[in-house]
Amino acid sequence: MKVTVVGAGNVGATCANVIAHKELVNELVVVDIKEGIAEGKSLDIWQTSPINLFDTRVIGSTNDYTKTKGSDVVVITSGLPRKPGMSRDDLIATNAGIVKSVTENIINHSPNAIIIVVSNPLDVMTYCAYKTAKVSSKKVFGMAGILDTARYRAFLAEALNCSPKDIQAVLMGGHGDTMVPLPRYTTVAGIPVTELIDKDKLDAIVDRTKKGGGELVNLMGTSAWYAPGAAAAQMVEAIVRDQKRIFPVCALLNGEYGLNNIYLGAPVKLGKSGIEEIIQLQLTAEEQALVDDSAKHVKEVMDVLDNMN
Ligand code: NAI
Ligand code: 2OP
Repeated sequence: MKVTVVGAGNVGATCANVIAHKELVNELVVVDIKEGIAEGKSLDIWQTSPINLFDTRVIGSTNDYTKTKGSDVVVITSGLPRKPGMSRDDLIATNAGIVKSVTENIINHSPNAIIIVVSNPLDVMTYCAYKTAKVSSKKVFGMAGILDTARYRAFLAEALNCSPKDIQAVLMGGHGDTMVPLPRYTTVAGIPVTELIDKDKLDAIVDRTKKGGGELVNLMGTSAWYAPGAAAAQMVEAIVRDQKRIFPVCALLNGEYGLNNIYLGAPVKLGKSGIEEIIQLQLTAEEQALVDDSAKHVKEVMDVLDNMN
């Protein structure tokens, strides 16, 4: 198995490090446009192999896509990150150009690759990659929901003073402040979370989750990378190990949840063919209204992209 990570910045390098550390594949290629950075970080990760005990060969490349030939999975992290005061949507013009050219290069050298997009604004960049790649939407999707639920689960673990391992959750909608955490589907070791925490506290955690990306941007002056990198690597793992895991993923909806031709977060089953199923939850009218509102926002930004073309 061969995986390529495009973008050797904070998120890309972290994702590559997790993939190598977990020995998910035989060959891992890291590409960046900035001279030497991918080669340097790949060499550094490879030099952890005797310490962390893995065989995954990690190879860096400055924009030479011949090295990525035959990749089974490609993770796109190239693009500008958010700075304080910026929304994810502010990144659209620059990152769309980057995601489009990167996707063309990927498909030219790995026509069968499954593509996981991480660049922001996530839902619209995933749509951009899909339109450029011209392959099945089952093979082009985005990472956001694993990160957003991880934040939600970590906040809950802290509030309940329990292990994050026991918290299961699902979340829908776009990767932005309109995302829709779903407390009704949140459990702690099988116990509905609503039985363990006051409504006010839960509401505050849902609100903090929605603003979770911005909280980190304000603390660090740039966006997060440890959890985003690990989340993208978890999606790679589900695919290369054909795990059939169910995660919230940014997927093309066509009829599901009453929505059409829109990339939006929804629970899916991930395996060796990519998205093997989009899971249909029976949402309440209130939950559906929140998803519709999030979809409306994402659609507006998708239209901006369409009009730019
Ligand atoms: P970064 O600035 O640390 O790294 C980005 C890298 O992309 C840089 O090394 C840059 O040289 C490279 N790059 C730019 N144009 C390129 C091209 N045409 N080809 C190859 N490489 C190119 O940024 P960071 O923090 O790694 O974030 C990357 C992206 O991921 C941003 O758009 C950020 O907003 C997004 N992000 C998305 C998350 C999500 O949940 N979906 C979470 C965190 C970040
Ligand atoms: C995050 O949620 C900014 O999308 C990035 O950390």
